[in-house]
Amino acid sequence: MFRAAIKTLSVGSRCSLSPGLSEIRHYCRKTPIKVQVSEALSGVALGDVTIQGWVRSVRSQKENLFFHVNDGSSLQSLQIVAPSDLSNPLLTLGSAVEVRGVLKKSPLPKQPFEVEAEDIQIVGECNSVEFPFKIKKRHSPEYVRQFPHLRCRTNSFSSLLRIRSEATAAIHSYFKEHGFVQIHTPVITSNDCEGAGELFQVEATCPQDSEDHKFFSVPAYLTVSGQLHLEVMSGAFSRVYTFGPTFRAENSQSRRHLAEFYMVEAEISFTQSVEDLTKVMEDMFRSATEQVWAQCAEDVDVFYKHVTPGHRETVEAMLNRKFTIISYSDAIDILQRSSEDFVFPTDWGSDLQTEHEKYLVKHCGNLPIFVTDYPYDIKPFYARDNQDHPQHTAAAVDLLVPGVGELCGGSLREERLDLLTTRLEAAGLEETYSWYLDLRRFGSVPHGGFGMGFERYLQCILGIDNIKDVIPFPRFSQSCLL
Ligand code: 4AD
Repeated sequence: MFRAAIKTLSVGSRCSLSPGLSEIRHYCRKTPIKVQVSEALSGVALGDVTIQGWVRSVRSQKENLFFHVNDGSSLQSLQIVAPSDLSNPLLTLGSAVEVRGVLKKSPLPKQPFEVEAEDIQIVGECNSVEFPFKIKKRHSPEYVRQFPHLRCRTNSFSSLLRIRSEATAAIHSYFKEHGFVQIHTPVITSNDCEGAGELFQVEATCPQDSEDHKFFSVPAYLTVSGQLHLEVMSGAFSRVYTFGPTFRAENSQSRRHLAEFYMVEAEISFTQSVEDLTKVMEDMFRSATEQVWAQCAEDVDVFYKHVTPGHRETVEAMLNRKFTIISYSDAIDILQRSSEDFVFPTDWGSDLQTEHEKYLVKHCGNLPIFVTDYPYDIKPFYARDNQDHPQHTAAAVDLLVPGVGELCGGSLREERLDLLTTRLEAAGLEETYSWYLDLRRFGSVPHGGFGMGFERYLQCILGIDNIKDVIPFPRFSQSCLL
């Protein structure tokens, strides 16, 4: 049935170029076809249609009633024109409607197509006085954030959600086109990949989960990263990736941290250099962003025009220039030579903080930079030892970007059994990670990978200041609404 409707649409798309043909088709079509607003706006189905959606504005004139309907399929809403005898007091901002009528070319230049309504059904009423959003008013992100259950009804948040959906598809396309196999890594795990102890423990609420009988028999957690599971797979697949939710019990209210966020992670086997990883990060960033710009031009414009003016140029510069690569030691040198009054120490061996990352990005022309070869001691057990005494660094890399700071974190992994065993023993973890050591016993190869925070990616390309504004339902310390 649905396929049949699509078929009619594509025929309509040709017919719509000729008013004569579309008139004929209008009479031939026995029943109206259901079209989405985006399809109607492109004029692919001139003739009898049914439109379903939510009212975005209503204007009543003496003889006619004008209102706009949006169904989430596009930023633009579709204008409906109805004789005033079809007007209904329940037709208000926010109400859900089904309109049957004729889709035709609009006499107004601003709107290419409109529907002349023959029947209007109110599917769901909306008390527009109590509805928190007002016609044509631009609400601040802080205001909109108070209504996590209703904010998808605003123009800017629905644009964000379409962009988020397109960016997800773009990232999957990138990996598919480059021969990566997608792995569904588990959400529940018994490892703490990053070793930072920022874990949410998982316990069953059912009665049999008592002190002496735990559901999983071992402590279980929500994953902080799918990396170790990807590493398992990289023993059989040379390129793998995963893209899913990850969880961190970071007690942070910052604009860049969430307790639940989406991470894109890739793992590449037979990789000898950090540059093999930076190339994938840079290519993926560029390819996904170009696809989002091409497929969601109107939605992206909402941000560049009204929310973050000037940000298009910042992103354009990122897309057009090669990302810089500097070593951690060079980064420390730059920080120490700066006249900035940093809160956190900048001595060799300290981790880079947000203030340092932002300074480094500015220093390098407000463009993305990779920082490589961090001190060995501040990186997790899996990072590959560069064996470059006396400084002693690990083959780790972070991508820092304008406005956000750290977007990606990655490393070559320690594939040498003896070095890995020594490090795990020193941390008292050799038993916990005996399976991980096995991976080095049975066909170990040099490999590496990275993770990119998906919400930070969206913040970066759209210039959005607060991470809570790029995820449908933000979770953070002291807040788990809905
Ligand atoms: O640098 P991270 O901790 O790296 C890892 O987890 C590696 N195991 C990934 C890998 O190599 N497969 O996290 C990766 C990225 C960060 O660069 C950041 O963009 C994002 O995940 N991230 C967060 N995003 C939102 N909220 C948080 N609390 C985040 N913590 C990390």
